[in-house]
Amino acid sequence: MSSLKSSKVIPRRMNFQFAADIPRYWFAGDQFKSILMTAFSATLPEGERFFIRSLRYFQPMIKNVELQADVRGFIGQEAHHGYEHDALNTLMTHAGMPTQSIEVLVKNFLDWYARHISPERQLAKTVALEHFTAMFGEMILLHPEILEGAHPQVKQLWLWHALEEVEHKSVAFDVYKEQVDNEWIRLSEMIVNTFTFLGFYSIHYFQLSHQINDKTDWHSIYHGWQWLLGKKNGILTKIGKHYLEFYNKDFHPDQRNTENLVEQWRQKLSL
Ligand SMILES: [Fe+2]
Ligand SMILES: [Fe+2]
Repeated sequence: MSSLKSSKVIPRRMNFQFAADIPRYWFAGDQFKSILMTAFSATLPEGERFFIRSLRYFQPMIKNVELQADVRGFIGQEAHHGYEHDALNTLMTHAGMPTQSIEVLVKNFLDWYARHISPERQLAKTVALEHFTAMFGEMILLHPEILEGAHPQVKQLWLWHALEEVEHKSVAFDVYKEQVDNEWIRLSEMIVNTFTFLGFYSIHYFQLSHQINDKTDWHSIYHGWQWLLGKKNGILTKIGKHYLEFYNKDFHPDQRNTENLVEQWRQKLSL
C-alpha cells in the first residue's frame, strides 16, 4: 500500500486540440482583448515553471502530509497549464502574433530573480502571483460573460485554467506559512509584485502590438479600458476588494468559500 496521501488537487491532462485556423484576434475579433490575453498566455508557461521550482525547493522539508500531497497536485496542475498555454502560444505565433519575445523576457527576468533573491522571497512571489491567479480565476467562474465572444476552444482553456487556479489557491500559501511565515517578506513582495505585474504587462502589450503590424484600433483600446477599469463592471475594478484582502494580518485564501463555485464548474466542464 502506498504511504502517499491523496489530494483534492488533481492534475488533469486536457490535451486541447486547437483548430489551426483560430484567428489572432480570437477574442471577439477585438484587437485589444486578443493582444492582452495572448500576452497573459505568453507569460504563463515560464511563470508556472517558476512557481513549481519555488515550491520544489521547500518540498522535502514539508511536514504536513496532506500539504505534501497538495503540493504534488499543484505541481501537476501547473505543469499541465504550461503545456496547454505553450500550445496556444505556438498557435498564436503561427497566426501572426509571435509570443517568443515575451517568453524570453519573462524567462530572463525570472532566472535573474532566482539567482539574486532568497528562496523564501521566491516562494513569497509565487504566493503573491497565486493570489492574482485566484482572483482572476474566481472572477471568470463568477462572471463567465467576461469571456463572451472568445473562440470556444480558447475559452475552454481559460475556464479549465480558472477552475484549477481556484482549486489550488491555498497550496503555495500553506507551504509559505509552514516553511517561512514571515509577514514582512509576504507583504513587501506583494507590493513589488503588483508594480512589476502592471509594468510587465504594459511592456508585453507593446511587444505584441509592435510585431503585429496592424493599424492600432483605438476604438478597441477605448472599450478595452472600460472592460478593465469601468466603474461598475471593469475586471480590475471588480477585484479591488479581493486584492486588498491579502494585506489582512489573518489572511488565508480559504476565507473565501469557493467550494460550491468549484463544484458547479467541475460539473459544467465535465471535469
Ligand atoms: Fe496555472
Ligand atoms: Fe496556480
